Amino acid sequence: FAQVYLLPDKKKKFETKIHRKTLDPVFNESFVFKVPYSEIANRTLVFTVYDFDRFSKHDQIGQVRVQLNSIDLGQIVHEWRDLTSPEGDIEKDSRLGDICFSLRYVPTAGKLTVVILEAKNLKKMDVGGLSDPYVKLCLTMNGKRLKKKKTTIRKCTLNPYFNESFSFEVPFEQIQKITLILTVVDYDRIGSSDPIGRVILGCNSSGTELRHWSDMLANPRRPIAQWHALKELPDKNQGGDDD
Ligand SMILES: *[C@@H]1O[C@H](CO)[C@@H](O)[C@H](O)[C@H]1NC(C)=O
Ligand SMILES: *[C@@H]1O[C@H](CO)[C@@H](O)[C@H](O)[C@H]1NC(C)=O
Ligand SMILES: *[C@@H]1O[C@H](CO)[C@@H](O)[C@H](O)[C@H]1NC(C)=O
Ligand SMILES: *[C@@H]1O[C@H](CO)[C@@H](O)[C@H](O)[C@H]1NC(C)=O
Repeated sequence: FAQVYLLPDKKKKFETKIHRKTLDPVFNESFVFKVPYSEIANRTLVFTVYDFDRFSKHDQIGQVRVQLNSIDLGQIVHEWRDLTSPEGDIEKDSRLGDICFSLRYVPTAGKLTVVILEAKNLKKMDVGGLSDPYVKLCLTMNGKRLKKKKTTIRKCTLNPYFNESFSFEVPFEQIQKITLILTVVDYDRIGSSDPIGRVILGCNSSGTELRHWSDMLANPRRPIAQWHALKELPDKNQGGDDD
């Protein structure tokens, strides 16, 4: 599958469908970015192609970058470009880490089970030190917090293994309306704990998150595990996401 975004904005990313068992995928999907004319010259369109892997991190196959000031936008541009190797990818710096968890929903019992399995390559929050990570689980509906749970703290690691299971009562009528927010936090005994990154799942999420959520709904009673790249939290000062 391919991911498409327009630098410097890395938050708004589009993803194509996954094409299975092929090295010659035809995507033919359209994505629309709204960009003021004055900014066009400064923006770079990035296409990143990945090999989808449910049980491990998706492997980046390669990337194409197109500076918008280098092409004639007055007409449709249709061309082939070679993918460049992901080596030296500037994305690496801003990586927050990855988390693996499974989701299982039993409609008849109205039970949602989340097993936090592990996280890896977590970003160091303290200079020099390792983190003491834990995962916060929060279930919301219409922006209101319904339930909050957390894993235990794993000491001094950037690759914590949790294998902790959490269950929530979610009647079938509500499963489409809820949002699950998983936040990886670096526990700090003295100062305030720093959130490292998070993943938001629900019917309104997109990309890998939406795929995982849909797979859970399409496979009732079966636990579905998946890795996710952590995303940045909105500005701390906006509040509402503290302990
Ligand atoms: C791409 O999609 C358009 C409309 O969705 C269709 O008309 C066109 O034939 C498709 N092209 C290819 C190469 O599949
Ligand atoms: C575009 O980039 C130039 C140089 O980096 C900068 O001075 C300018 O403010 C940028 N313009 C916009 C609209 O971001
Ligand atoms: C994870 O936890 C489950 C249930 O507590 C246990 O059965 C399983 O062996 C654990 N897996 C590993 C790899 O520790
Ligand atoms: C999804 O978005 C729609 C429209 O904005 C909203 O009505 C609905 O409550 C949202 N659902 C969830 C689960 O957030």
